Amino acid sequence: MLHVAQSSFDFSTFVLITIAVISSVLSYEVGVDYHSCGANFVQTAFLTQYHNSTVRAIVLTQLQGMANKGAHFVTLDIWFGVEPNTTNDQYWLATFPISRQEQINLHQYALDVASIQSQIDQHRLRLNVALFWLAAADYRVGNSSSGYGPDHLNATVFTARVEKITDDIIAAVSNVKRSDGVLVVERVYLDYEVMIGAKLNQDWFLQTHYPRFLRVVAAAGFTPSLYFLVDAKEAYILDASYIDPQYPALNGHRCMYWVYRSLKFLNDVQLPLPTRIDFSCYIDRNSSTYAHLVNHVLNDADAALSTLGAPKFYGVAETYYFANSTQRREYGQAFALEAMANPRLNHLRFWTTPDAGGKGVHIGYPFEIEDYLPPSDIRQLL
Ligand SMILES: *[C@@H]1O[C@H](CO)[C@@H](O)[C@H](O)[C@H]1NC(C)=O
Ligand SMILES: *[C@@H]1O[C@H](CO)[C@@H](O)[C@H](O)[C@H]1NC(C)=O
Ligand SMILES: *[C@@H]1O[C@H](CO)[C@@H](O)[C@H](O)[C@H]1NC(C)=O
Ligand SMILES: *[C@@H]1O[C@H](CO)[C@@H](O)[C@H](O)[C@H]1NC(C)=O
Ligand SMILES: *[C@@H]1O[C@H](CO)[C@@H](O)[C@H](O)[C@H]1NC(C)=O
Ligand SMILES: *[C@@H]1O[C@H](CO)[C@@H](O)[C@H](O)[C@H]1NC(C)=O
Repeated sequence: MLHVAQSSFDFSTFVLITIAVISSVLSYEVGVDYHSCGANFVQTAFLTQYHNSTVRAIVLTQLQGMANKGAHFVTLDIWFGVEPNTTNDQYWLATFPISRQEQINLHQYALDVASIQSQIDQHRLRLNVALFWLAAADYRVGNSSSGYGPDHLNATVFTARVEKITDDIIAAVSNVKRSDGVLVVERVYLDYEVMIGAKLNQDWFLQTHYPRFLRVVAAAGFTPSLYFLVDAKEAYILDASYIDPQYPALNGHRCMYWVYRSLKFLNDVQLPLPTRIDFSCYIDRNSSTYAHLVNHVLNDADAALSTLGAPKFYGVAETYYFANSTQRREYGQAFALEAMANPRLNHLRFWTTPDAGGKGVHIGYPFEIEDYLPPSDIRQLL
């Protein structure tokens, strides 16, 4: 126990509070859901065309620019969905399972992220990878007897492809280190916006694939994870009289409806909860402030999810990047100030394209990353 001397100015407490503030500022990381070098992601998603030297040069310039602007990491979102050996001019869709060329491209991209160092403060980037299953890989279509996806792949074939993708991705990025010796890849997400009960067959998908994914991703030195979705409409967040039809822990915490159900599913099938609870969080407001709504969401998470044994430790996996700079700054600062006040918020990345600024508002580089960072005067004190 710490004995604090009685005096009009309590220096020990001051130091402890200061250390708490500084360490939460230091541990809060801001980055970008970066998968396209332009706003039109159908044409400019870069993984499938990274062997094009023009595309790679653009990406290298943008990575340097993001690091210089203070990004701590980038997250590569990969949409699997094209059958092997079919022609594809949809650059955003990768092959299911990943093609040799795409695997080579991923390796090169990881090396390139690892090579970047901020010209302002010399920090380096980390890379996360998030897997999405759409089109030919869309497991929400079909069932165990008819097969999964629009091509009705049987479960054996579907699972073999998911496992091959997992292994090929790990092979492409394992042992890619920055010059300071740190592995460039930090987290790999098996699935995005997990909503058990809302997405058909997702229970099958996770129960079948997550155990092996956890094992092989961790063995490569990366953190395996999933991310969830908060229903972040103001009317839901502030619905104090909400009564959940099934789970009293959700009463008054309606925005956690799907996160709670998804974590409860993991508990029920004895799969581990992520060590940090990441979720998409697109806050739509009517009349409240963003600061109040962000704080409310995290309080709701603390209250509802901890009853399932979830850590009070969070990451925002996707959120708005508004085109209106005034609105965006207010929005980004609401998260930054929350993170400074309480280290439970550890991570934020904003979405880019498509629709980061709302439906039809696609965002491409450059990004005003500082809008989401803690105020620079606080950082300069460090
Ligand atoms: C490489 O990418 C650039 C920029 O998108 C494009 O103009 C060019 O046609 C591509 N080259 C090839 C060989 O596809
Ligand atoms: C795709 O085509 C290549 C040669 O064109 C062949 O070697 C490969 O086996 C094919 N892959 C699949 C999954 O059909
Ligand atoms: C599976 O899907 C097929 C085709 O859509 C349908 O006829 C069948 O009833 C479904 N089976 C189950 C168990 O849901
Ligand atoms: C699954 O589909 C593949 C390819 O069509 C086939 O070779 C295999 O026998 C099927 N497996 C089962 C269990 O139906
Ligand atoms: C704003 O208020 C209206 C009326 O109460 C409601 O229908 C709507 O869902 C609210 N929007 C948000 C983002 O909460
Ligand atoms: C931009 O957002 C601010 C703050 O929400 C708002 O007051 C302003 O009207 C918006 N500007 C435009 C051009 O929509």
